[in-house]
Parts: sequence; C-alpha cells; structure tokens
Amino acid sequence: MSATTLVGLDVGSTSIRAVEASISKDRPTINNFGQVFLPPDAVVNGVVKDDRAVTAALRHLWTAHTFSTKNVALGVTHQQVIVREIDLPKVPSKDLRHALPFLVRDVLPLPVEQALLDFYPLPTAGKSETTHGLLVAVPKEPVIDTVRAVENAGLHVESVDLACFAALRASAHLAHDTEALLDIGANGTNIVIHADGTPKVVRTVPRGGAEITKMLATRLGLTNSEAETVKCRVGLRGDENAESAAVADEALRPLVTEIRSSFNYYSQSHPGKRVRRLALVGGAALLPGLAEKLTQDLGVPAFLSDPLQRVHDVRKGGRHDALGRFRSSAAVSIGLTLGAA
Ligand SMILES: Nc1ncnc2c1ncn2[C@@H]1O[C@H](COP(=O)(O)OP(=O)(O)OP(=O)(O)O)[C@@H](O)[C@H]1O
Ligand SMILES: [Mg+2]
Repeated sequence: MSATTLVGLDVGSTSIRAVEASISKDRPTINNFGQVFLPPDAVVNGVVKDDRAVTAALRHLWTAHTFSTKNVALGVTHQQVIVREIDLPKVPSKDLRHALPFLVRDVLPLPVEQALLDFYPLPTAGKSETTHGLLVAVPKEPVIDTVRAVENAGLHVESVDLACFAALRASAHLAHDTEALLDIGANGTNIVIHADGTPKVVRTVPRGGAEITKMLATRLGLTNSEAETVKCRVGLRGDENAESAAVADEALRPLVTEIRSSFNYYSQSHPGKRVRRLALVGGAALLPGLAEKLTQDLGVPAFLSDPLQRVHDVRKGGRHDALGRFRSSAAVSIGLTLGAA
C-alpha cells in the first residue's frame, strides 16, 4: 500500500503547530514541521475566540512552510471533555453511531444534542452481555468553530481527535502499569492517567505556564517578556535565583494540587492501583527543575517524555531542526499523525 500524506494540526493558545507525515502501516515519517504564533486570546483553552486571526495564521503557516498537502488531522481540546469507561448493551458496530446518543443520554452531564460522541470498545476477559469501552464526549460547538476556522484557510479537515489522546499516542511509556501523562501548555493542562495506553482518567484543567509568567511579572515588577525570560532560564532553581524560583514555586502550587487530586481520584476509583510515574510534555514541561519538583511533591518519578519516540524523523539534528527543539510543544501534532495509519 502506498503512503498517504497528511498534517497533524494542533491549534494551541500560544501557537499553531503543524507536522506533515507520510502515513504507512509502519511508523509515520515526518517530512515537514512548521509553527506560527497566535495573538493573545485568539484561542483560549481550546476555544477559538478570534477565527480570523486563526485563519490568517494558518494561511501564513502554509505559505511559509510549503506543506505538500492541505489534508489535516485536527486536535481538539476543551475543559468539558468527558472520557469515561462505560458498559453498553451489545449493538452491531454499523448501528452504534445512531444508537450512541440514546444509549448515553442519561450518563452525560451535558445535553446529548450539544455533544460530539465517540465510543472505543476495550478488550474484556470472558463473554459478556454488554460491551465495555470508553465513551468520549466533547461540546460540539467549539469543535465546529475550530473546523470552520481551519477550512476557511483552504484546508481540509480529514479527521478530528482529542488532543490528549494524540499526546498519549506520541508520548506515553507503555508498560503493564499505570502512568500519568501531562501536557502542560500555556493556559491549559491535560492530565491523562492510563494503563498501558488505555486512558482511565482524563481531565483538562485551566492552568499552565502563563500563570507562572504572570505572577513573576507582578511580584518582581517585570514586563511580560522579561518575566518569560526569567521563567525559562531560572524556573524552579533556587540556586540560580532564590527570589524568582520561590515565586515560580508558588505559582505552580495550584497545578500540583490538581495533579495530586487526579492521582487520588484514580486510586479511589481503581482500588489497589496507583500512578507509578509521571511523563511530561507541552511547552511548560520545560520549566527548569519541574521534573525534580513533581517527583518530590508527588512521590513518583517524573520525567520529560520524548514525543518523537514513535516516528521516523529523517531530517533530525542540526541547527535547522525546529521540530527537535520544539518537540515538547509539538506532542499533539506529532501524535495526530500516529492516529492516522
Ligand atoms: N524553556 C521553557 N521553560 C519554561 N516554560 C516554557 C519553556 N518553553 C516554553 N515554555 C512555556 O510553555 C507554554 C507554552 O506551551 P505550549 O506551546 O505547549 O502551549 P499551547 O499548546 O500553545 O497552549 P495551550 O495548550 O494552553 O492551549 C508557555 O507558557 C511558555 O512560557
Ligand atoms: Mg497545548
């Protein structure tokens, strides 16, 4: 079978990332990467607020990077994403799409007409009257808005996938135990607790690197861009600069609390199990000292994960290797190409 080419597209709140790959049965081969920064507040927590800015940025991205296709796999995220393990009555797979809204109406916290739904059956031991699987629900309207902004740039959205599932495909470390994967962005953090690649708990919290920059700027009397520089250079390293490290530490605390509560929720809902390690991706995962701090506070080893581990990147290395340098922010766009085979 010949390879098809498509672009994994992640519309984040600070920038849009596009990874072009040849998709075959083997691992995807990356052919091109580009990113374009967005004006502040054009996209907030996965919701497009300024569709013209997003469309203009995408046109610029395609002109500047000469992608060879307009077909994209789009990542979406939203604070109200719902991922839940449920049991459904057995329905022939061809009828599931029509039956799903009726089957899950009562378990959804939002009106079923306002949600995009999907169901992934999971393997179960033995025979059963029901099908066990993962129900995924996302508010419909923000997804439609994002698709429209992308198609207005002359692109064709071939598929839509949850950004956190894409990050998981690219960055998870698979073993017969439980891992938490965190994609820490500027304004949002996706927390996925998974067992050998199967999501068990998925949460999106409105916290990320931007609030650390903001607190540094306010407390130390810096401009936003000065605070950003201090954050990226010093981070949590008190030996570099005790004052700014203490502020960054304080700004990070609410996110650490959210992660801890997700860990506790997992242990309570899965008796006898607990999270064994914490894999980090997203731009804000690069905060100096973060992995050490999370290891200490949460009592499990935390480490920066490599989202390029499952793809061929024949162009890698050298000073023009933008994807190599921005790989952590590009985890979602890389993972979208992995979902396409
Ligand atoms: N070296 C670094 N050290 C610390 N923080 C960094 C570093 N590089 C980038 N960041 C931070 O990462 C954040 C951006 O991450 P990312 O590119 O993953 O966000 P995004 O996907 O655009 O946003 P979101 O996921 O919130 O929509 C910013 O807050 C930025 O300051
Ligand atoms: Mg992001």
